[in-house]
Amino acid sequence: MQWLSLLALLFVHQHVVTALQVYQRPLNQDCVSAPNSRSLPSGSQYFPEDFRVYGETFDESDHVTVEFAQGFSVEYFDTYKIVRNTIVNETYVLYQCGLQPPSTDSLPEGSKLFSVPLDSTAVVETVPLAFLKELGVDSRLQSVSSYAVGSCAQKLLTCPGRTAPSLDTANATMTTTDLDALVPYADAIITSSAYALDQVFAFSATMDPGVLRRAEWVKFLGVFFNMDASSSEIFSAINESYFQTVSDIKSREPAQPPLMAFVDYLDYEPDFAFEVQFAPYKLQYTEDAGAVGPDYAEVAAIPGVIPSPFATIPNGTLWFSWGEGGGFATQAEAVAAFQAFLQTVDIVIDETYAADPLSYNLTKFYQTYNITSNTSYPFLRTSQVFREDGLIGPAPSYGLDWFEGAIARPDLVLGDFAAAVAPSEYPGRRPTWIRNIALGQQPTIISDQNCNQVTSCSERPSPICPYISTCPNGNVVQQEAVNTTCVYVPCS
Ligand SMILES: *[C@@H]1O[C@H](CO)[C@@H](O)[C@H](O)[C@H]1NC(C)=O
Ligand SMILES: *[C@@H]1O[C@H](CO)[C@@H](O)[C@H](O)[C@H]1NC(C)=O
Ligand SMILES: *[C@@H]1O[C@H](CO)[C@@H](O)[C@H](O)[C@H]1NC(C)=O
Ligand SMILES: *[C@@H]1O[C@H](CO)[C@@H](O)[C@H](O)[C@H]1NC(C)=O
Ligand SMILES: *[C@@H]1O[C@H](CO)[C@@H](O)[C@H](O)[C@H]1NC(C)=O
Ligand SMILES: *[C@@H]1O[C@H](CO)[C@@H](O)[C@H](O)[C@H]1NC(C)=O
Ligand SMILES: *[C@@H]1O[C@H](CO)[C@@H](O)[C@H](O)[C@H]1NC(C)=O
Ligand SMILES: *[C@@H]1O[C@H](CO)[C@@H](O)[C@H](O)[C@H]1NC(C)=O
Repeated sequence: MQWLSLLALLFVHQHVVTALQVYQRPLNQDCVSAPNSRSLPSGSQYFPEDFRVYGETFDESDHVTVEFAQGFSVEYFDTYKIVRNTIVNETYVLYQCGLQPPSTDSLPEGSKLFSVPLDSTAVVETVPLAFLKELGVDSRLQSVSSYAVGSCAQKLLTCPGRTAPSLDTANATMTTTDLDALVPYADAIITSSAYALDQVFAFSATMDPGVLRRAEWVKFLGVFFNMDASSSEIFSAINESYFQTVSDIKSREPAQPPLMAFVDYLDYEPDFAFEVQFAPYKLQYTEDAGAVGPDYAEVAAIPGVIPSPFATIPNGTLWFSWGEGGGFATQAEAVAAFQAFLQTVDIVIDETYAADPLSYNLTKFYQTYNITSNTSYPFLRTSQVFREDGLIGPAPSYGLDWFEGAIARPDLVLGDFAAAVAPSEYPGRRPTWIRNIALGQQPTIISDQNCNQVTSCSERPSPICPYISTCPNGNVVQQEAVNTTCVYVPCS
């Protein structure tokens, strides 16, 4: 008898969970109530100037385009907005929920339609999660990548049915099948590249080269949540704080900036190499933090050094490699040349992959680069050896927040590097994303306990109010205040 009722309970519970997962526009105040409408009473606007993303504005007859230097643009119409991701060359038409979608013959060919704000979003890769956290919309996530590091994403992973599939980028067929399976549950699926599926849109922050440009993609996501102006404010604050740190550093003007290098050991049979990294965003952090990076042409001119055949950007990575396809005849020669290079470096960022970051300490660093004595290495004399695994997710995957949270907060990352370059200016500061293994600093592990934004698996999001509302008599009233409910001037 007891067993039977327990089974019944389990069944009911299971049933409820499944019902919750299936996507339905909630009965909250996200939407306007004008289900047969495609237009507005004259003189009113859903997306007036106060509502829009900040950027350069171009007037063009009855609409306005807001453009950013790279990656995306937003164009406003009366009842919808057009967002273009120019990196993947896709066009998204976002219309205010509660209205009829705009008629397709007036839209750019091949565009995808979304009703906004999004309410139930699947995030199959980790990078967007940090930006969605900045926007405060974690409770609008239907499912998240199992590699997620952020605390609220981890909390969602403890909920039934909230784990998104991991995309196998090598098998497009499999990926499309996985994405298809999310369609009943999600009103949008965010990926980093374009897919033909109507519900998928691409978020390309990491394809934008500069660290601030990457962070500016918070505006792109903001547009999908009708947070156009507030996401712009979030970015402005990050931008301002970044430039404040830069100007603090400049005001100190060190006589001779130290040399900071991002290096690693690649063990990827049959390829073995010591690598020096030159990605533009790493060089930007280096220079803005008051250091200089290694000179590409100088390192490339060392006999035996070759460009990495795996580099995804021109002049991205140089190799001290051996064996088949390597530039050095033997491992010993490559090690000797790389050590000679390291002896010119003042600050090392060691990016060598470690399956268990907790066990990667200074002893391991010595082994990685076959170093036996600390006397010839400037960075060992001054104890400036850092890794990017200062903030990580739990076992067993130990995902690095460097690849998630750090991308959305370049201002804070710059603070980390500033302290790495000039430790005496930041006494006692423990950096967030990088850790100093020469000082024995250990990774900090993020747990789902750190999440306050999502309190339960069935939490409903608080509303994102439309800018205006329509009264029963057809009058339009403007939003007066936003709290946990939408407050409008009363209908007359
Ligand atoms: C972008 O997409 C449009 C429409 O699908 C197409 O006409 C155009 O050639 C594409 N441009 C690039 C650079 O791929
Ligand atoms: C890709 O995935 C599909 C669907 O699971 C499978 O049938 C196919 O064999 C896979 N192809 C490769 C090359 O692995
Ligand atoms: C970022 O801040 C700098 C310095 O204050 C300013 O010149 C620039 O316009 C800002 N950029 C954006 C997009 O807000
Ligand atoms: C790559 O580096 C070489 C010097 O080694 C330089 O001549 C060339 O312009 C660089 N290319 C790019 C795309 O930066
Ligand atoms: C590593 O260092 C030891 C001690 O200096 C040396 O005997 C050995 O040859 C080195 N290994 C390589 C691959 O250079
Ligand atoms: C690094 O870890 C190893 C293994 O746990 C330990 O033997 C060694 O003493 C540690 N080295 C440092 C510098 O803490
Ligand atoms: C260098 O190594 C020696 C011998 O292991 C050690 O006594 C000394 O403290 C080290 N110096 C620094 C700056 O780490
Ligand atoms: C908004 O919420 C706060 C805190 O719950 C409350 O004190 C305030 O009165 C609310 N404002 C409006 C306009 O509802």
